[in-house]
Amino acid sequence: MTERIALANLPTPLQPADRLSEAWGGPRIWIKRDDLTGFGLSGNKVRKIEYHAAAARSAGATTLITTGAVQSNHCRATAFAAAQLGFKCHLLLRTADGLKPKHALGNHLLHRLSGATIDYITPDQYLDRDTRMEAAATALRDSGEVGWVIPEGASDYLGMLGFAAAGHELAAQISELASPPAVWHASMSGGTTAGLALAAAEAEDTFTVIGTSVGDTKAQILARLETIWVEARRHRKLPDSLHAELVDAYIGGGYAVISDDELACQLEATRLTGLLFDPVYTGKAMFALREEIRSGGLDGFDDVVFWHTGGGFGVFAHDFSAVVT
Ligand SMILES: Cc1ncc(COP(=O)(O)O)c(C=O)c1O
Repeated sequence: MTERIALANLPTPLQPADRLSEAWGGPRIWIKRDDLTGFGLSGNKVRKIEYHAAAARSAGATTLITTGAVQSNHCRATAFAAAQLGFKCHLLLRTADGLKPKHALGNHLLHRLSGATIDYITPDQYLDRDTRMEAAATALRDSGEVGWVIPEGASDYLGMLGFAAAGHELAAQISELASPPAVWHASMSGGTTAGLALAAAEAEDTFTVIGTSVGDTKAQILARLETIWVEARRHRKLPDSLHAELVDAYIGGGYAVISDDELACQLEATRLTGLLFDPVYTGKAMFALREEIRSGGLDGFDDVVFWHTGGGFGVFAHDFSAVVT
């Protein structure tokens, strides 16, 4: 069995969101509270990092190296896991101009507070991120350090195992439901969707996995899922292809571009649940859920589980003045 280092508070609760269900109609909405995996490490990413941290430790690594956007939750969770476990952490963060932002806000403030070292890179340089992380690991060797590279979003086979376990955790929590629910979640680098699909396959389709893209096209995310699945099939007995639906109808202006309508919906969801959602991931996924319910796309389900993947710190990097006076 692949090792993991327990960092998250698990299982996270599954809670009904009855005021939201009543307001939006359609299936009964439940919320899987991965925003409660733990302070500093909250959200979906810590589940994946548990496996990478264990592998890094077994390999004798001293430094976790990873990459993401300047507001990356994954980078923040990695940096805090490193601090907790005694690794150093090096981040390659993408900014619009490749420069260090003047003001550190939201997750980026946390990246800086965590003690991680940071290189800022442009969107063009980000295309080469894997090579750049390998180069950072090689450079560390000269000073006697051993780097452990975690890919974007920790969305490889190892990281995906965290979400496979999460899917099994959910399967145990929904055993009382009369029919299999849809599991609706924000999807981007794909590890969350791939892990849930793996668990759904192993748990005999006790739920239907539906990822809603927050930026990339369906084809781009499916290509990443396929790569992870091929690797997963080398380790576990699984169907030839993964069963997950991907929706890219609600990417709007693209990754981290948020319309006033999306923001307003995010606030509506907050005011009907008492929970915080972030503009980039969970807020956009909530907007997508409301629109999908309105269009009848979820009419075949009695229940839908909205996977709250965390990301709340993103609220503190966004301008809400268009929707909050
Ligand atoms: C809060 C949040 N939700 C969802 C996702 C998407 O998960 P994945 O990258 O595994 O597709 C991310 C990824 O960064 C995230 O930070």
